[in-house]
Amino acid sequence: MSILINEQQQSFHLTNGSISYQFSVEKDTFLIHNYWGKAIQDNEGISDYPRHDRSHSTNPFNVEAREYSLNDLPQEFPTNGYGDFRETALEHRYPDGSFITQLKYDGYEVYEGKKALEGLPHTYVNKEDEAETLEIYLIDMLYDVIYTLTYTIFQNYDVITRHVRVKNNGNQSVEINKVLSMSLDFDYSQFDLIQLPGSWGRERSIVRTPITQGLHRIDSKRGTVGHEYQPFFALTDPTTTEHHGDIYGFHLVYSGEFMANIELGEFGLLRAQLGINSEHFNWELSPGETFQTPEAVLTYSSKGLNGLSQIKHRFYQNHLIRGKHQYEERPVVLNNWEGTYFNFTEEKIDEMTDEAAKLGVELFVLDDGWFGERNTDTTSLGDWFVNRDKLPSSLKTLAENIKAKGLKFGLWFEPEMISKQSQLYKQHPDWLLKAKDRKESAGRDQYILDYSQPAVRKNIVKQLKNILDNVPIDYIKWDYNRNMTEIGSQSADIRDGEVSHRVVLGLYEILEELTSSYPNILWESCSGGGGRYDPGMLYYMPQTWTSDNTDAVSRLGIQTGTSLIFPVSSMASHVSDVPNHQLNRTTSLKIRGDVAMSGNLGYELDVTTISDEEKAIMKEQISFYKEHRSLIQYGNFYRIINFYEASCNEAAWLFVNDNQSEGLFYYFKVLDRTNPMLKRVKLVGLNPQALYRINQTDEVRYGDELMNKGIFVENKQYYDEISDQDLHGDFRSLRIKLTQVK
Ligand code: DGJ
Repeated sequence: MSILINEQQQSFHLTNGSISYQFSVEKDTFLIHNYWGKAIQDNEGISDYPRHDRSHSTNPFNVEAREYSLNDLPQEFPTNGYGDFRETALEHRYPDGSFITQLKYDGYEVYEGKKALEGLPHTYVNKEDEAETLEIYLIDMLYDVIYTLTYTIFQNYDVITRHVRVKNNGNQSVEINKVLSMSLDFDYSQFDLIQLPGSWGRERSIVRTPITQGLHRIDSKRGTVGHEYQPFFALTDPTTTEHHGDIYGFHLVYSGEFMANIELGEFGLLRAQLGINSEHFNWELSPGETFQTPEAVLTYSSKGLNGLSQIKHRFYQNHLIRGKHQYEERPVVLNNWEGTYFNFTEEKIDEMTDEAAKLGVELFVLDDGWFGERNTDTTSLGDWFVNRDKLPSSLKTLAENIKAKGLKFGLWFEPEMISKQSQLYKQHPDWLLKAKDRKESAGRDQYILDYSQPAVRKNIVKQLKNILDNVPIDYIKWDYNRNMTEIGSQSADIRDGEVSHRVVLGLYEILEELTSSYPNILWESCSGGGGRYDPGMLYYMPQTWTSDNTDAVSRLGIQTGTSLIFPVSSMASHVSDVPNHQLNRTTSLKIRGDVAMSGNLGYELDVTTISDEEKAIMKEQISFYKEHRSLIQYGNFYRIINFYEASCNEAAWLFVNDNQSEGLFYYFKVLDRTNPMLKRVKLVGLNPQALYRINQTDEVRYGDELMNKGIFVENKQYYDEISDQDLHGDFRSLRIKLTQVK
């Protein structure tokens, strides 16, 4: 691996032998992007983009040639006001009201490894030789402000990370209105845009569209990431498929308001940008202060969507997720939420956990409703002490009783919120997040705590520690159930324009403190399902509640979209009751189990009221899952039939272990057809030379046969010991275990 620098040409080439990323300095001033993609030999990194005298274009201050226009050049970090009329990466408001920033290249530094981003989640190296970092310095030509663009290339991953630091060396404050984490211009325009839009209950669908001239924006203005958009997009060649072709992924390691700009300009250059949303952002940078942007993760694959996913899964697993549970098999959970909602008693929990232990469940999670006076969602957020009317024997005794049954104990919190009906609000109404002198809007009858205020953070940490120090807790579900409005702070010390970002920094500070103080706890993040499923949260909490929608068919889509960018070990997925509470659809326990066990398996229903037949199926699912969960959670995941490309009527995926001796294939069918055409499915990722046994049958096939010729999913010969594999009918699923025999 090396970062090649040509001092004379002032060009930079980041390469790990698999990918190359090149840019250079032009006119001693501007950073011009040259190339990113499959590794190429060092061509000195200089842009070969032809220069033209374009009508209406301007040449910048230090260039006389009319054919040199920033509007028609691929740039690395464009700013405001001197001839590039596209989206900027940086905008200031200076004391004199001006917003023009002219930057000039001012040198570089290279070092082995990768430094931590202070106060922000980030990808990391385990050893210095796993990555190399380039820092590029730019200076403001008028104010004494210095900009550091940081690029890290990883040795074993086709990944480059980028972020920016702004330091005010001057003696007057400067306002930052916008500073993105990355910007780059491709010097060609034949791309499709892939994004993961959605809403509550239908998070992260895969949507692919051709890119036309103009600005396309994916963003959040909700204080948090939200269900609607992921801080991610990908650009692909129009011919790229699941397994072949170029794809470029962009992902922000951030849990707040973000902005992704994809702009196809008039001359066919495609600008890709990612960073904090500038909409609610105005930061005062005082003399001597530094502003640090979040980190953007840039991924390239020539192996299509699957190629991108596999890089991202391994990269996040090994260089983002941390702690004791990073590689630990995740427990089978029973969560009481859909089984009881708020309406539970100690006896009910006792009965549920008795039954759960018999079924093979390993961890019981007591969800919302155990604290303050919380019997509906209108009260008590902020009062993190147990409701003794509901749980008379105390939380500690309850947890100990559950643990005596051989189960672990998990508890739900929503620590970023406050209810007006709470003791906390009575004592501290000024801790409610809202802009000064504005009226506050309610969401789910609750409000957000102003984590930009240090006293608020201190109180919440204290309350949580009080419980964690006294109750034997193995797992925490950290929920967040509304969007921010009237963003600002009631504290006179905090500028409203900084609150959106400061609240996220406050959350990260608390998460760092709690997760490092209680390293044995398995932390799961949640936001009304998957409203804050982002790399920032994954840095602190190794798994996320994927969606509140537990309908098996909906989950095929949600989990397919999620699998594009997140590792399987991060995806919590539960079997719930039917008719499904979100959709009213009835599907078999077989398909609900097969879908849920394609992530971190759990159950979310009243196990005391289900039939013996259902209990037997659940027992089989749990024991099968325990046997195969390391393959599922930590193996290589391949989408074989992409749900969205198959008209949302089919999906198939495959888990393969690293040495390719084991595979687990799932095929799902939503609606059946009369007299259907037979379906041959070609597998991937197996060892072509190896001979595999199919389930426990006598059927054997070579890897090359399974991959090139494929298998008929309707083949009854594969249906051995596993009941209910028949694909005839609606909402059916097939599970095939491949075991190498030779
Ligand atoms: C939203 C979560 O996504 C649900 O699983 C549940 O925990 C509720 N909140 C509880 O209020």
